[in-house]
Amino acid sequence: MDDLLTRTHAAVWHPCTQMKQLEAAPPLAIARGEGAWLIDTDGRRYLDAISSWWVNLFGHCNPRINAAIVDQLGKIEHVMLAGATHAPVVELSERLAKLTGLGHAFYGSDGASATEIALKMSAHYWRNDGKPGKHGFVSLQNGYHGETVGALSVTDIPLFKSTYAPLLRHTAQVPTPDARLAAPGESAEDWALRCAAALEAHLAEHADTTAALILEPLVQGAAGMAMYHPVYLQRARDLCDRYGVHLIADEIAVGFGRTGTLFACEQAGIKPDFICLSKGITGGYLPLSAVLTTDTVYAAFYGDETARGFLHSHSYTGNPLACRAALAVLDIFEQDGVIAANRGRSVDFTTVLSDVAAHPRVRHFRCLGMIWAFDVADAPADFSPRFHRAALAQGAFIRPIGDTVYVMPPYVVTRDEMTWLSVCLLSALDQSLAA
Ligand SMILES: Cc1ncc(COP(=O)(O)O)c(C=O)c1O
Repeated sequence: MDDLLTRTHAAVWHPCTQMKQLEAAPPLAIARGEGAWLIDTDGRRYLDAISSWWVNLFGHCNPRINAAIVDQLGKIEHVMLAGATHAPVVELSERLAKLTGLGHAFYGSDGASATEIALKMSAHYWRNDGKPGKHGFVSLQNGYHGETVGALSVTDIPLFKSTYAPLLRHTAQVPTPDARLAAPGESAEDWALRCAAALEAHLAEHADTTAALILEPLVQGAAGMAMYHPVYLQRARDLCDRYGVHLIADEIAVGFGRTGTLFACEQAGIKPDFICLSKGITGGYLPLSAVLTTDTVYAAFYGDETARGFLHSHSYTGNPLACRAALAVLDIFEQDGVIAANRGRSVDFTTVLSDVAAHPRVRHFRCLGMIWAFDVADAPADFSPRFHRAALAQGAFIRPIGDTVYVMPPYVVTRDEMTWLSVCLLSALDQSLAA
């Protein structure tokens, strides 16, 4: 273990990390995984309560996903998708089209590459449509869409964005419908409607130069699991239609059942013009992202002129191994009735966490589908690392976002594990709040 930690410090530049802090708080040296658990090189077990950055759905080392990848390994590991195609990418595209109601699927690798694809496709659509001035974007305050330069331009998290401001494109942000920001006595729905009115005012003024509105439907993850009323999505859909602006649903974090439906947009009964998918798409196995869009958008690119086409690519676009993992994930959803089962789990686990919700320092305890979150009142400045260390010492892998603690476990987590986690959360809270 020590050897691995020394070598990782010397050779690996870890993501979202001030490397010097690893001296005091070394990373977990993980040797293997089993269901909802991570096991380190000394055999210590940690419940992966945040699904390894929200990607894992059906546990680590899931036999069914493993088998699909192993089977594919014996056939073809990768072939470029320009000038070639293969069964896994075709089948996955067909199934995603059926599930989303959107036609062709364009593939990338990570979430941020999906954001880039959707932004470029939207602006290019308007250009092909004879409106080249429509290349601006509007997003929600506190939204997060990834950290490549284009994606960061529509992200609104100062910690990640400010340093790179000179590199970024100007985009507009409109008020977030985050229910926690409702005025005293105001309902989440009324607050969402007020925010939708602000969106309307923005579009009324800027629709001529705006290609798309991009948002995270129902839950703004990196903002601290900020949840909002679905009426906002309904209004946003209407307004985008009225003002001729695309709606891009970034379901990278919330897709694949996280909020209780396969896709979060379903809860508002809306269909976006673009949907961005990643993370859970392969059950947390392999990097894959997809952008699906309408037939209207697709048709605007189709023609004799090469430059009218979408000339975007990544080397690993549509990787067969990743597509097979994604197909195995869709099979599990279907065969195991996961969405229906999660409905029961969501209610049951909320009961299991009721002592946490009742803790005197806990505010805004909230749940949507398989996401639970709460804010901690009067938390010390170093609350997040303190809580992380306290939880880790007990065997739970959790990384609070500022003063917000959230739990987003793999769907295979059991009631007993959640009961254990509840005790662990209470104890980590008390330890990290102790003077
Ligand atoms: C809503 C959302 N969009 C985009 C991304 C970026 O995905 P990736 O980290 O795979 O680039 C994330 C990652 O957390 C996300 O939560």
